[in-house]
Amino acid sequence: GSGSGANILGQPFVFDDVSNVTDSILGLVGRNLYDTPNHPLHITRKLIESVFQYPLYKNHIASNPVVTTKDNFDVLGFPKDHPGRSRTDTYYVDSQTVLRTHTSAHQHAAFQYMSQNPEKGYTICADVYRRDSIDRSHFPVFHQMEGARMWQQYRMKTTKGGTRLMGQEERKAQIKEDLDNLPEHSLEIIDEGGHHNYKTNPVQISHDEKESELVVQHLKRSLELLVQRVFTAAQEAMPGTKQEQLKVRWVEAYFPFTSPSFELEVFWQGEWLELLGCGVTKQEILNNAGLNDRIGWAWGIGVERLAMLLFEIPDIRLFWSQDERFLSQFKEGQITRFKPFSKYPPCYKDVSFWVRPSPDGASPIGAESSSGVAAAAGGDSTKASPAETQPAAFHENDIMEVVRNVAGTLVEDVKLVDEFVSPKTSKKSLCYRINYRSNERTLTNEEVNSLHDQVLQQLTKLPIEIR
Ligand code: PHE
Repeated sequence: GSGSGANILGQPFVFDDVSNVTDSILGLVGRNLYDTPNHPLHITRKLIESVFQYPLYKNHIASNPVVTTKDNFDVLGFPKDHPGRSRTDTYYVDSQTVLRTHTSAHQHAAFQYMSQNPEKGYTICADVYRRDSIDRSHFPVFHQMEGARMWQQYRMKTTKGGTRLMGQEERKAQIKEDLDNLPEHSLEIIDEGGHHNYKTNPVQISHDEKESELVVQHLKRSLELLVQRVFTAAQEAMPGTKQEQLKVRWVEAYFPFTSPSFELEVFWQGEWLELLGCGVTKQEILNNAGLNDRIGWAWGIGVERLAMLLFEIPDIRLFWSQDERFLSQFKEGQITRFKPFSKYPPCYKDVSFWVRPSPDGASPIGAESSSGVAAAAGGDSTKASPAETQPAAFHENDIMEVVRNVAGTLVEDVKLVDEFVSPKTSKKSLCYRINYRSNERTLTNEEVNSLHDQVLQQLTKLPIEIR
């Protein structure tokens, strides 16, 4: 890299002391996998969009991931000390600019669009970026989709050629009517989750309780219909598997930008899986976009996680593969079961080092991750409650970043395998095991040794002492 700046999609940026983007991460910007026909991420995106269609919904994509910290965090109500803002979790281009960590970074712009246009809702699909651990379900770039829907209080309505204004009671009646008009589904709902805790997951003070509840019901039903559509398609594509009754459950959640908030879990192949996060949009966010007269909901989903379930893709790195043995398996509009074409041998290398104990006793390891429901394929981001610990001098994600930088998709996972504190020096020793394995070929010893040497070399820049 240039060391002092970067050009991202034709736009120049000067680095400052907060910048932590790397050439390897910037090299993944602009691939637009979600917009590549016959790619499983594109197929999944289209399947989700099919449930949220024009003229009610406008389907957007957002190809430039560079956004302001204001749009990614501030306008969404993230507290100043939210862990999602830390440099250990987020890629900063400079102190004011990040690679978006979620599609919610575009809420403000999408809401402004809605104030000028007739659609009542939208979806956005985009690539998002998070510093995180390395394993088969986490990659620093992944994809999210977000949806929103709103109802307007004062709407011009044509009755026999005339127009009139609609008040709040009529807006409520409209939500009820739209709810009643949503199709039925045959999912089994295990836990309605409707009796939310009014202390931790409240109806917003500016909202009418009944109206908020109607929005919640419309939100839940819409997402249940999404699950029905998507998972029925997957069941039909896999004649080998039993056509089991689909089951979902609602769980309370926390996001800075919705209240009340929920997560939807689906029972799939014997397990309850977190699928998406959602809630009633905070009124301040609507008001700030000039939508004072509206009320509405929003949801966000991780596209890889869903695609991995639907197509039975076992490793998130495969989405980035240019190998025809992967790409040729998928056809637009179809869900098919992925047939693994290889399992090349793993090559494990350990690295051990000393770290100083963190002053506040906080653990930088497996620290409450800020990657989210709508995350790659697991974890929790924006949903983390405020007021967590400050980042320590050493953070596990910095090891991950070094490994990503050197080895990219040639690493399958990095795991902490040993940890102890020296009684003499009270320094902590950590040992991480790096699993070098390609999805596409057998790596040679020389190649792995060279990669590992570079990793060791780059680790010397971290506040650790290699043993
Ligand atoms: N942006 C949230 C995430 O990344 C998901 C979400 C979107 C939740 C919209 C609620 C509403 O986890």
